[in-house]
Amino acid sequence: MVIATTITDSKEELHSTFASRYARTSLPKFVMPEQAISKDAAYQIINDELMLDGNPRLNLASFVTTWMEPECDKLIMASLNKNYVDMDEYPVTTELQNRCVNMIAHLFHAPVQVDETAIGVGTVGSSEAIMLAGLAFKRKWQARRRSEGKPCDKPNIVTGANVQVCWEKFAKYFEVELKEVKLRKDYYIMDPVKAVEMVDENTICVATILGSTLTGEFEDVKLLNELLVKRNKETGWNTPIHVDAASGGFIAPFIYPDLEWDFRLPLVKSINVSGHKYGLVYAGVGWVVWRSQDDLPEDLVFHINYLGSDQPTFTLNFSKGSSQIIAQYYQFIRLGFEGYKNIMETCMSNARVLKEGLEKMGRFEIISKDVGVPLVAFSLKNSSKHTVFEISESLRRYGWIVPAYTMPPDAEEVAVLRAVIREDFSRSLAERLTSDIEKVLKQIEALPPRISTRAAHLISTRDTHLIGSVSDTPVATEELERSVRESQSQVAMECRNAGREKVSGVC
Ligand SMILES: Cc1ncc(COP(=O)(O)O)c(C=O)c1O
Repeated sequence: MVIATTITDSKEELHSTFASRYARTSLPKFVMPEQAISKDAAYQIINDELMLDGNPRLNLASFVTTWMEPECDKLIMASLNKNYVDMDEYPVTTELQNRCVNMIAHLFHAPVQVDETAIGVGTVGSSEAIMLAGLAFKRKWQARRRSEGKPCDKPNIVTGANVQVCWEKFAKYFEVELKEVKLRKDYYIMDPVKAVEMVDENTICVATILGSTLTGEFEDVKLLNELLVKRNKETGWNTPIHVDAASGGFIAPFIYPDLEWDFRLPLVKSINVSGHKYGLVYAGVGWVVWRSQDDLPEDLVFHINYLGSDQPTFTLNFSKGSSQIIAQYYQFIRLGFEGYKNIMETCMSNARVLKEGLEKMGRFEIISKDVGVPLVAFSLKNSSKHTVFEISESLRRYGWIVPAYTMPPDAEEVAVLRAVIREDFSRSLAERLTSDIEKVLKQIEALPPRISTRAAHLISTRDTHLIGSVSDTPVATEELERSVRESQSQVAMECRNAGREKVSGVC
């Protein structure tokens, strides 16, 4: 890299605001540069490149917090240099994590007394929390099978096909078969009846979601518990439940306090929640809590003493920052139950504003439900000429990031847009987004028709007899088929770009 700095302009360098004043060649991308550069130059070069990232506040693809109070930002900055794992050196930080675990366990009705310590741990996010919970189930199941003299080499886990990618990771990384209950059109969550039918003697647990990533809908944990209690009685199996409450865990207790989804149900043995979603902390914190000590096998907990006193650890990583844990405790004591309730109600109300605006346009079908996570998932009533992927792409020009994706099996023919409503998404932004969507609709309608993903899908699966039915206006099958072929590669590219896969865009 050639740095455009000479002795004569070194004074100016201190006050420069454009990276172009520093670098005359492309930036190092593969090999570490030989020489150091000034801190001003390094800062400016990176800052200027980062301007091309999207605006996090307008990123409606993500549940993750993008705004916190300046007082909390101060605490975060002050603790950036603390490694959480040094518990002996930073005992107060450890104590704050334990307080957070206790508060979450009580919020989820764990059977612990008011002044009793709950069982749980802070993680980097729900994904790590789920790996730990899954491991605990696997280990408990293996121990039971061994004690019964039965084989324990074919564990499986039952989930809905709508699970977030972290469950697929858990299954692959920890060698557990993932048995997914398929979805169907107009039913986009796990059907508890089908889930219980899939349970067998090798099932380590049924994982159910409070707040499906795709539609925000809550799964019926109470019914699942009832059905599984019955099945366990009939078979003698003892299959437990894990609730993935990544988003819903900080919604349901405040807005639907009577909804029974947590430790009030006897088969629920562990729950994860993302502190960085509706826990209202920046990215990097999640939680897993267990019903009781019995549900966390002791052989998974490591004890180390080389940092000072005996330290129990049950995490995948060793070192990590302390800031997010401190920030979580800040939010708990700053907002209290009342503050969280107020924020969640506002989010729900802004989601309603957006939903009603979309309904008024008459072009969308709302897929998300009124009870659930504050988000609006919606599909085009008629996607024979234009697709949700075009809408998503066009909204980018207004600065909005609203992902479009197809549903998992067996509802792949349904493609939706999803806008997640967070605390920093105000009513006026909801109104603004509504009017921008309306503008985008008008713009794409003025363009030549593009073919629907469903039509493309049908062609690709050679299910051509159905094609005529995807269009509202009768189109000759042959003509439509030709049109499909022409646009298929374009649609495929849009799908890829717009985050069709679970692993991108939707988190
Ligand atoms: C239901 C569900 N589970 C797990 C996750 C993974 O959460 P994290 O990003 O905290 O690892 C997500 C992320 O959106 C989710 O929606």
